Amino acid sequence: MMNKNITIIVGAKWGDEGKGKIAAIEAQNAKLVIRATGGSNAGHTVIYKEQKLPLHLVPGGIAYPQTTCIIGPGVVLDLEVLFEEIAFLKKCGIPDIESRLKISGRTHVTLPYHKDLDGLYESLKNKPVGTTKRGIGPTYADKSNRIGIRMYDLLLPEDELIHKIEEATKVHNQVFKANNMENCVVDCQKLGKQYHEYGETLKNYITDIEPLIFNSIKNNEKIVVEGAQAFRLDLDHGDYPMVTSSHPVVSGTLCGAALPAQALNVVIGVDKAYNSRVGNGPFPTELPASIDENGNVIKDTTPLEGDIIRDLGHEYGTTTGRPRRCGWMDCPILCSAKYTSGIDYLCLNHLDTLGEIGKKLGYVKVCTSYMYKGEKIHHYPDDIMVTGEIPEPVYETLEGGWTIDSSCKKYEDLPELAKKFVEIVEKASGIPVKYIGTGPASDDLIVREDI
Ligand code: IMP
Repeated sequence: MMNKNITIIVGAKWGDEGKGKIAAIEAQNAKLVIRATGGSNAGHTVIYKEQKLPLHLVPGGIAYPQTTCIIGPGVVLDLEVLFEEIAFLKKCGIPDIESRLKISGRTHVTLPYHKDLDGLYESLKNKPVGTTKRGIGPTYADKSNRIGIRMYDLLLPEDELIHKIEEATKVHNQVFKANNMENCVVDCQKLGKQYHEYGETLKNYITDIEPLIFNSIKNNEKIVVEGAQAFRLDLDHGDYPMVTSSHPVVSGTLCGAALPAQALNVVIGVDKAYNSRVGNGPFPTELPASIDENGNVIKDTTPLEGDIIRDLGHEYGTTTGRPRRCGWMDCPILCSAKYTSGIDYLCLNHLDTLGEIGKKLGYVKVCTSYMYKGEKIHHYPDDIMVTGEIPEPVYETLEGGWTIDSSCKKYEDLPELAKKFVEIVEKASGIPVKYIGTGPASDDLIVREDI
């Protein structure tokens, strides 16, 4: 039997749930910390010796010197972002990055033309996805089309890499020309030379990661996988086509990290006490907000419920700066996330913020089920893209709000109304809330040891 020592942290809604904080805590005693899916569309902030490290690609576990951090084959890697992060981490005094960061040779590379294509595809769509324009979709599309460039390709002789880029960009260049984007037509010689040099710079990082992982499992060392994006953004299980191009659910995360499923120990689903979404697509509990059709905040208007949540929760994208759409906690989605990802425990962040929202609005709501096609249901219906019907939330309302200050270290210390909120979420989702985020600092987290 295989040792079971893998902990996976996944987003339970549409991303930005605050996975970084719990990932950092789990990584404290881990040997391997792995990033498995997505690319520089993700973003989280890790604290190292009171310095903030905003990371998009390097696993946050790098802050702990005992870890080896892996970028798995399921990731799409923007090397310019990676170089910036490595330089920044070195400047902050993080030790031994060169020996502690490993990149799978099978990881696909996001090249500049993928970002140009991302922008073009979005601009041509009737209903844009609202992507982060980081080239994520086009990189995965090239991977599926078997014309992707992988990290091992960067170690080939320069002329072979140039030839691969020529093959990969034949159709893309036609597309650029047809759309009057001559400035984006790829100069394969130049790009090949540049990325060959990048390969030379990164050669000590690029490796076969599988033996490393297998030995860790054999030696019963803890492995933590930092999930990126979230359940409703999954290519197979999310709100297709308003999704990302990877598989953030647990099975996709295992695959993207090159991990055997038998070694999985615990799945922690992360959510916020209210919900948010960036980009387009359904959001049943969304609240009205003053945002124009380009996604920008309309200034000098009376704040609506969505504006109040956004401002109290500082809900602006870390990667793009876009204001996020905000709404109440949605438990039916948690039920569906549990069906797909087998979530063992929930980490519920921003319970303090929800209390402040309640104080400002005079109430707090939780969606515990939906009315859909005349029936009460407790999961997220799959056919809403066909029916065009958004399920109608059924709410439980709590009157008032609460204050959680830094003296709240145990579940028992929480205000009664906040505990009531947690109990409603547990009952409606069927997932025990083991971790509760009570503030922005890394130790503003209640861990319920009895669960
Ligand atoms: P893409 O991943 O850039 O292709 O964007 C596809 C959709 O996923 C868009 O709605 C993005 O806003 C959303 N998305 C991608 N990454 C994240 C994330 O880390 N947090 C929240 N939303 C994300």
